[in-house]
Amino acid sequence: MTAEIAKKLSSPFPGRWARSYVSAKVKTDPLYEAVHRELHGTDLPLLDLGCGMGLLAFYLRERGLTFSIRGLDYDDRKIQSAGKAGSFLKLRDLAFSTHDAREGLPEHEGNVTILDILQFFTPTEQERLLTLAAERVAPGGKLVIRSGLKDDSMRFKITVAGDILARVSCWMKAGPTHYPAAGDFHRILSPHGQVRIEPMWGGTPFNNHLIVLQRKT
Ligand SMILES: C[S@@+](CC[C@H](N)C(=O)[O-])C[C@H]1O[C@@H](n2cnc3c(N)ncnc32)[C@H](O)[C@@H]1O
Repeated sequence: MTAEIAKKLSSPFPGRWARSYVSAKVKTDPLYEAVHRELHGTDLPLLDLGCGMGLLAFYLRERGLTFSIRGLDYDDRKIQSAGKAGSFLKLRDLAFSTHDAREGLPEHEGNVTILDILQFFTPTEQERLLTLAAERVAPGGKLVIRSGLKDDSMRFKITVAGDILARVSCWMKAGPTHYPAAGDFHRILSPHGQVRIEPMWGGTPFNNHLIVLQRKT
């Protein structure tokens, strides 16, 4: 099934490189399926911060989740790409807009995702973004985050090298600025609900973890 989804989701993207990237991402990275598991069964709308080319939204639709999804990213090329792919796939209730998350967040009450973007923010910006995102989680909803965690592991060193490479190759508009530690998530998010942290690196060499804030109903 994963191979079928990878083929379908990569087909709208122009160029062999983008298609290969999407296909490999869907096949090898456990992230989108993990978010599907977290959000399965909810009707709450989703705000996806740093949505990139919209892959999470397309994956969740492909897996049968129908709640409305709004994706924001400050890279206009990726937002254009996401919009075109969404139209090609004829998907409903998806919106993608260009927005810098350092400038605050729009009104929202539902679930929120922040996947692989925190490393571009300073510690102060991270704390502000996490607080604003947590405030937008509806009762019973979730804030689902993936981030590389700062620690003493070799995985952490490889994570930093990978993010620098993404900048040097121009795939990302910015290089990494700061990586949060597990304690930062507990400190910032615990006032808003229950916090859970688990490894989420699948077959990759990176130090990625899934961090889930669950708000009480
Ligand atoms: C590694 S990609 C992850 C994309 C997507 N979340 C996913 O997992 O498929 C990081 C994304 O964060 C976006 N980003 C970085 N800084 C941002 C900011 N200040 N505001 C909005 N988006 C940002 C980048 O443009 C990029 O699309």
